[in-house]
Amino acid sequence: MSTTTNPNLFPDERSLEKLANEFFAALPGGIPNDFLQSLQAKDPLVPKENHFDLTNPQTSLPDPHFPEKTGIPKSVAGSGISPTAVDKTAPIDLQQSFNNSPDPYLTGNGLSPKSVAGSGISPSLSKQNPETLINSNPFQGNSNAFNPSHPFQSAKLLDPKSALNLLPYEQEQPFETELKEALKSVNLSLPKQQLPSDFSGINNSSYYFISVNEPLSFTKGSENVISPNKGISSLASPPFDVNIVRQDFPILKEKVNGKPLIWLDNAATTQKPQSVIDRIAYFYQHENSNIHRAAHELAARATDAYEAARQKVQSFLNASSPDEIIFVRGATEAINLVAKSWGEQNLSAGDEIIVSHLEHHANIVPWQQLAERKGLKLKVIPVDEEGQVILSEYAKLLGPKTKLVSFTQVSNALGTVTPAKQIIEMAHLAGAKVLVDGAQSVSHMKVDMQSLNCDWFVFSGHKVFGPTGIGVVYGKQALLNETQPWQGGGNMIMDVTFEHTTYHNAPARFEAGTGNIADAVGLGAAIDYVNRIGMDLIYQYEHYLLVYATRLLKEVPGLRLIGTAPDKASVLSFVLEGYRTEEVGKALNQEGIAVRSGHHCAQPILRRFGVEATVRPSLAFYNTCGEIDTLVATLHRLRSAKPISFR
Ligand code: ALA
Repeated sequence: MSTTTNPNLFPDERSLEKLANEFFAALPGGIPNDFLQSLQAKDPLVPKENHFDLTNPQTSLPDPHFPEKTGIPKSVAGSGISPTAVDKTAPIDLQQSFNNSPDPYLTGNGLSPKSVAGSGISPSLSKQNPETLINSNPFQGNSNAFNPSHPFQSAKLLDPKSALNLLPYEQEQPFETELKEALKSVNLSLPKQQLPSDFSGINNSSYYFISVNEPLSFTKGSENVISPNKGISSLASPPFDVNIVRQDFPILKEKVNGKPLIWLDNAATTQKPQSVIDRIAYFYQHENSNIHRAAHELAARATDAYEAARQKVQSFLNASSPDEIIFVRGATEAINLVAKSWGEQNLSAGDEIIVSHLEHHANIVPWQQLAERKGLKLKVIPVDEEGQVILSEYAKLLGPKTKLVSFTQVSNALGTVTPAKQIIEMAHLAGAKVLVDGAQSVSHMKVDMQSLNCDWFVFSGHKVFGPTGIGVVYGKQALLNETQPWQGGGNMIMDVTFEHTTYHNAPARFEAGTGNIADAVGLGAAIDYVNRIGMDLIYQYEHYLLVYATRLLKEVPGLRLIGTAPDKASVLSFVLEGYRTEEVGKALNQEGIAVRSGHHCAQPILRRFGVEATVRPSLAFYNTCGEIDTLVATLHRLRSAKPISFR
């Protein structure tokens, strides 16, 4: 008997690979052992030692931080000078150093004043007005106990079945299914060459990053909004497993009010992956020293780690040189640095500074202070009803007196993504310098200094999964070197006599005194972490979440979204009719959901929309559709407890 092979009956290798990816992605325990072993046999980058969690591709490869393997020239211990070409990398027992890490939970003495959870109000403020806050809590009392007489808990929507009837999705849908469905609608194709070369092994594993056929077709803009209704037929299987990513963030396992923490306050600060936490601990365990100035081994290690972090920032921003990267405390200090150095030295009475209506107070107040001191004029680019800047109005503000345009790339209060490149080009045509506030953009989208061509760009480490207390000013090298420093002290000088001091060029010129060395190193680890996932993938996944959340929030009766620009990132600001924003914040907190409610340090833009405060969920790549479902279900419950018609 002869057999015939009908090619239609047998899936080809690619289809099999795809099916296998989908199958492994759906397994609760992750990658099976034998599959891992076959990976290890094929791929020398998959570690054989049991130093890493092999079920977690995020941590399954030797971390290039431990020790540094970046090819960055090392300092010479004993010389007291920073990097030369001598490699001093020594083997280090990472497992042991991790085992010795202090317990992060054994901190704090419990003596600090308590904030009012969910209210968005600081401890000091809450002291001033405790009655309002406590009485406004709709879930006051024993929040975890079911209380049938409570108006919220007895509401028909507390019954999950009723809730499901009213909600436009299925809450009980398994997480993996939900994510797969979500990703089917997204054109997620990532060219292999975009992955860092040292993670090519993972790419070949076809698990965390799948192999793909098509180039990345995503471009930013309103026509490219990823719609859940778009076709799915030709798409690859999910290249991004949020369940795996979440394992890297220990805090996401916390419970709040007996519920799993849902962290939707990413615009205020982001959570930290274990690799960042470990990197900082490793610094203090093995490298801690002051930098640049001592003649011993640890000074060399610390200097290497700090300067390696600077190079990581350079590459993250695609700046031309590490000398264009200045470490500061955060975006606020960064803007103050530019105002108090370049602004003080170059602006004079009658000069004009343009900001947009979207700005955070940090990009208003320093310019206002400067304007008051020097007789400058502050002009404001208006925004339209959706919250986007009006370029034609901006064009009218530009003129020969315009010396500086300072604006945000993403609004922290509305989420608007501004047309940064156009704004910069127009400013330059008018002869003005441009500062871009990237505090809310760097964690959501790729930024590129050479393409943007701004004169300064600032951001905070803690908003991009790094530590607090560290931030960055990028500045064009020539501009930095022709600007006099704003602070004097050690580290920034070439020579000091009582008569005269000469300064180093940037970056040292602007880094007087001992900086936040360990947290700069932690920021480097955070950048490595997001690079491993890939900013394009992060942008796409988050954009999907944003579209998903926007659609569901719009269906909550009485909910008004503030900020509806077609091009948005991360932020979903809203007010709910019949509730004060802090009441909504507290009710969400009862469900374990963290959002910010208040003015978000951006009062002018909220007032533009006729409100003093909003509730502001804000997304990061570790958030899920399931978390958004819980948010929306809670809002529906609030709505049902106080129906609009009965007010
Ligand atoms: N700027 C931060 C925010 O928007 C704190 O919440």
